[in-house]
Amino acid sequence: PKTEFVAELLSKMTLEEKIGQLNLPTSGDITTGAASSSNVAKNIEDGKVGGLFNIKSVQKIKEVQKIAVEKSRLKIPLLFGMDVIHGYETTFPIPLGLSATWDMKLIERSAQIAAKEASADGINWTFSPMVDISRDPRWGRVSEGSGEDPFLGSEIAKAMVNGYQQNDLSKNNTILSCVKHFALYGAPEAGRDYNTVDMSRIKMYNDYFPPYKAAIDAGVGSVMASFNEIDGIPATGNKWLMTDVLRKQWGFDGFVVTDFTGIPEMIEHGMGDLQTVSALALNAGIEMDMVGEGFLTTLKKSLEEGKVTIEQIDTATRLILNAKYDLGLFHDPYKYCDENRAKTEIFTKNHRAEARAISSQSLVLLKNSNQLLPLKKSGTIALIGPLADAKENMAGTWSVATNMDKSISLVAGIKEVAGKDTKVLYAKGSNLDYDAALEEKATMFGKTLHRDSRTSEELLAEALKIANQSDVIVAALGESAEMSGESSSRTNLEIPQAQKDLLQALLKTGKPVVLVLFTGRPLVLVQENETVPAILNTWFAGSEAGSAIADVLFGNENPSGKLTATFPRSVGQVPIYYNHKNTGRPLGNKEGKFEKFRSNYIDERNEPLYPFGFGLSYTTFGYSNLKISSDKMNFNEKVKVTVDVTNTGNYEGKEVVQLYIRDLIGSVTRPLKELKGFQKIALKKGEKQTVTFEISVEELKFYNSELQFIAEPGSFDVFVGTNSSTDNKVSFKLIK
Ligand code: IFM
Repeated sequence: PKTEFVAELLSKMTLEEKIGQLNLPTSGDITTGAASSSNVAKNIEDGKVGGLFNIKSVQKIKEVQKIAVEKSRLKIPLLFGMDVIHGYETTFPIPLGLSATWDMKLIERSAQIAAKEASADGINWTFSPMVDISRDPRWGRVSEGSGEDPFLGSEIAKAMVNGYQQNDLSKNNTILSCVKHFALYGAPEAGRDYNTVDMSRIKMYNDYFPPYKAAIDAGVGSVMASFNEIDGIPATGNKWLMTDVLRKQWGFDGFVVTDFTGIPEMIEHGMGDLQTVSALALNAGIEMDMVGEGFLTTLKKSLEEGKVTIEQIDTATRLILNAKYDLGLFHDPYKYCDENRAKTEIFTKNHRAEARAISSQSLVLLKNSNQLLPLKKSGTIALIGPLADAKENMAGTWSVATNMDKSISLVAGIKEVAGKDTKVLYAKGSNLDYDAALEEKATMFGKTLHRDSRTSEELLAEALKIANQSDVIVAALGESAEMSGESSSRTNLEIPQAQKDLLQALLKTGKPVVLVLFTGRPLVLVQENETVPAILNTWFAGSEAGSAIADVLFGNENPSGKLTATFPRSVGQVPIYYNHKNTGRPLGNKEGKFEKFRSNYIDERNEPLYPFGFGLSYTTFGYSNLKISSDKMNFNEKVKVTVDVTNTGNYEGKEVVQLYIRDLIGSVTRPLKELKGFQKIALKKGEKQTVTFEISVEELKFYNSELQFIAEPGSFDVFVGTNSSTDNKVSFKLIK
């Protein structure tokens, strides 16, 4: 019936109405930079709008939907989109933090809860997941993705799509997902947002495309084009990308939307005037124009001049109508407008409890000398730092629906969890060190940055006073939420200087210091790693951040997060990632000593500070007895790899057991290590578990220089361990 229904509707539509379906203005309710289009209501009435985005609340959405289904000629309902990126009002950790859980069930559950809340508030379409691989922490949107690895990124892409769509868009608590930003948005030159991307096809296919493809394979309903160019043509106008790869090679049958003003931005890219770039986009395979109004204002003319065809316009319209049909909007345009659901299903006690549990799993313990953590629930704690009492910074970037006033700050979380026998003293210690650009960005998102009027000396004096009265100092430092996310590229990856100075002053008191780090990206923490006894990286852990962090600080939860993006020693090492190639001149020593005429630096080692997959626990895990079922495997066989993992410490805890392969000889050069499996296991004190992985030919495949996805016979090393630096290995041969 869908095909017939949509075909019949299409046959009744005027050209203007068809083009109208391809138009996606923003409501102006929550803007994202450029001015929103005016006279939206009038355009809806005239059948010139296919959907609207970033409008919040059932009442408002209902009013707008009413215009579409009561006043427009064909009564076609609207899509309502929103950036529901890591939760709705109940906010989960930023995606980079969520990925650090390595727990696909939890990640899927977070998206399911997000869909439940968003749909209860009128939203039927989310611009998520963002699956752009990024190996460059200068890029601010590294916070919005799942890090550097294509295998893990693909697993997370699937989990997110399944979470939002639950394989059933007919329900009223699932929403249409939109995988973005297709493609390669995470690889801008020099880490500068919106900058040129230039990449070989083989790298695209092996390292950057897999998560997008995984989302398509999981049935994602829509795709968002990226802003960047690919092979010299902006993604928004790139036919090879949108038609050859996405439709023909991957079989995508949903619709593609541009990013915000992606079509008119092609004028700046130097691709021609608005009419030319709009035709370019439609010809490439774009269906919906976000905010640009290029389709709305020029497609008719292009059709008359033979620059586009009516078949192309029909196809695009059909795909948008299909999505509306799949969502059940023709059957009930108010399907997502249940005021009772809005009152009872958003920011509920249960959702918040789940968010707290998920958030605690995302924290990564980077250092813990002399088992300083967990803290005792007694004595005096001096909680110091500009992020200690900063509700507005807990949710992090792209959390448009969050209610910042309701977020749990660290000071609130610690007071709740530490109990009555613990005295908690608080001082701000320093300003966050905002610069003017950040102030402007915060204002754009409706936030006020509270710059303290006291001098830095006064702030420090207050902090040192309570530090000297304490048994332990908890320093809450790092980036503010605005320092990462869109349009927040950095060339300096350190904690802002004012806070670094504060930290060093606190260390001078001689009291033990725990650094609770807030960040949306991998930072350079060399000085902190050398001087601070304990470092807990908490990202931006969402609306329940303060409670979740306190749960971990006091040992109610044992940290189990592992990094999904490498933490460099210096900005000069960037881009840095574990699955790099060997080169013809690899370094010959493990100590990282400089070697002339080898691939290394004269002033820095090659290794990062913290590798991909790294994260400590309050307990320790021993790995032993790594075995492989056979040292040979043919193309239709599998080998089993087993390892015993033992909890050798004093707490029960969770460990992410990671399996990497190395393809030793190939027709093209192969990475030194590639993640091909992981399992998160829970072990009681003293408990041992045998963990089993299976390797089939699928895990050994890669794209060769002809872009064929194949496995080649030869020798493979298999590494199993606690992070990507492990050299615990077995080997086998793939034979024909
Ligand atoms: O979804 C976002 C995208 O990630 C960046 N530009 C704006 C879009 C809509 O808000």
